[in-house]
Amino acid sequence: MSKQMSHLDNIPSTPGKFKMDKSPYIHNRLRWHSSLAKLTFWSFMFLGLILIFFFRSPSSNPLPQDPSRRSLRTYNWGGPAWEKRVRSSARIRSRNGISVLVTGAAGFVGTHVSAALKRRGDGVLGLDNFNDYYDPSLKRARQALLERSGVFIVEGDINDSALLRKLFEVVAFTHVMHLAAQAGVRYAMENPGSYVHSNIAGFVNLLEVCKSANPQPAIVWASSSSVYGLNTKVPFSERDRTDQPASLYAATKKAGEEIAHTYNHIYGLSLTGLRFFTVYGPWGRPDMAYFFFTRDILKGKSISIFEAANHGTVARDFTYIDDIVKGCLAALDTAEKSTGSGGKKKGPAQLRVFNLGNTSPVPVSDLVSILERLLKVNAKRNIMKLPRNGDVQFTHANISLAQRELGYKPSTDLQTGLKKFVRWYLSYYSGGKKAAG
Ligand SMILES: NC(=O)c1ccc[n+]([C@@H]2O[C@H](COP(=O)([O-])OP(=O)(O)OC[C@H]3O[C@@H](n4cnc5c(N)ncnc54)[C@H](O)[C@@H]3O)[C@@H](O)[C@H]2O)c1
Ligand SMILES: *[C@@H]1O[C@H](CO)[C@@H](O)[C@H](O)[C@H]1NC(C)=O
Ligand SMILES: *[C@@H]1O[C@H](CO)[C@@H](O)[C@H](O)[C@H]1NC(C)=O
Repeated sequence: MSKQMSHLDNIPSTPGKFKMDKSPYIHNRLRWHSSLAKLTFWSFMFLGLILIFFFRSPSSNPLPQDPSRRSLRTYNWGGPAWEKRVRSSARIRSRNGISVLVTGAAGFVGTHVSAALKRRGDGVLGLDNFNDYYDPSLKRARQALLERSGVFIVEGDINDSALLRKLFEVVAFTHVMHLAAQAGVRYAMENPGSYVHSNIAGFVNLLEVCKSANPQPAIVWASSSSVYGLNTKVPFSERDRTDQPASLYAATKKAGEEIAHTYNHIYGLSLTGLRFFTVYGPWGRPDMAYFFFTRDILKGKSISIFEAANHGTVARDFTYIDDIVKGCLAALDTAEKSTGSGGKKKGPAQLRVFNLGNTSPVPVSDLVSILERLLKVNAKRNIMKLPRNGDVQFTHANISLAQRELGYKPSTDLQTGLKKFVRWYLSYYSGGKKAAG
């Protein structure tokens, strides 16, 4: 749908103080080859870091087999003050409340879900690595927002098992809302490793820690509508085939669904996968079309609108963030307990998958027309062929299952939702903040 890469290239480099998580797959490699002197220097630094890690790590196995540079380099957790913040953030403040570990809490969906849980008195602890796939200052702004409502976001990686074990040691989470992932379809051609790191290794690591936790939490996690891949039968129903992914992103989400099946089957973990359909709204993701179209239209830059073969329409089932949040909370509230303990299954556990969409696909050209009206600026449209590198021609959710089991009923149409997005965008990027691009 979107010409993501060329637009991503235009996102300015992020402020230095937030730039703590460079891609370990590209940048580091270059650096390490620079010179022998540098190599020696970095070897000493690395040794020093390992020593520091030894001293502060509380776990019995302080040296992971292959410690990712990421977590060694930048994350700093542990200690009584830190544990106190963790406990306080996760404390349940309402009767029948739940305590939820929200991964990806500084992300778009994670921020909204965390805020909603906190508002109704649940305990919420966030976890996020603040990577720079898109402007981390937006993640920091979301973090500040959550902090004001009493949600603490631990800075760390879901693939860090010592950290996750520590979190479960400090808090007996009843639920995990797992939203951390490498999102985006086109970026996989640039950095495939990040999808494997977060969506496969990170997810497995999280499930490993959850299966060993006592009690085991129930897990709700974000899959994606992209698992429907090249399917042409619409609307997409949960029972349709999902074995023809069109991108590595989709393939890792599909893999996640199979991995979820395994952990449910072997260890009795209660697992619910939510297939989100193109989520948009305030505090959204700068790598998504509605967001960078807004930016580029305002700048007078031309925007690329894709069409399929024979002038076929490219359309998306755009789903407003508040509807997605309701679906997430309903999934948490209807999740049954996991049945295992001590890493052993005691009986069959719940395993579910739901579409969370809006059931009304909108052509991308209509999206642009709505934005033009809201921004009162005419877009410079550049019609292009949809490249065959990840995006599918359309998505359309059948949500009758979520309707029946979760009471899910989306209520925001694209026009209404975009109005709220544009209002947020204009206020966020005025007032001294520099534009997103
Ligand atoms: N927004 C959509 O339209 C959409 C559609 C389908 C599925 N999803 C899925 O929903 C979830 C949330 O998406 P979003 O739009 O909020 O994306 P997002 O990128 O804004 O949020 C993901 C967050 O996870 C964090 N993260 C990534 N890898 C991590 C790791 N290894 N350890 C710790 N934190 C990590 C990121 O820093 C980010 O803040 C993702 O799983 C995504 O794949 C989103
Ligand atoms: C994830 O962590 C494990 C254990 O520390 C490590 O072996 C693995 O290399 C990591 N995987 C990725 C893709 O980062
Ligand atoms: C939608 O999915 C339900 C199952 O959840 C199915 O019974 C129904 O036939 C589907 N509707 C369409 C139009 O495909």
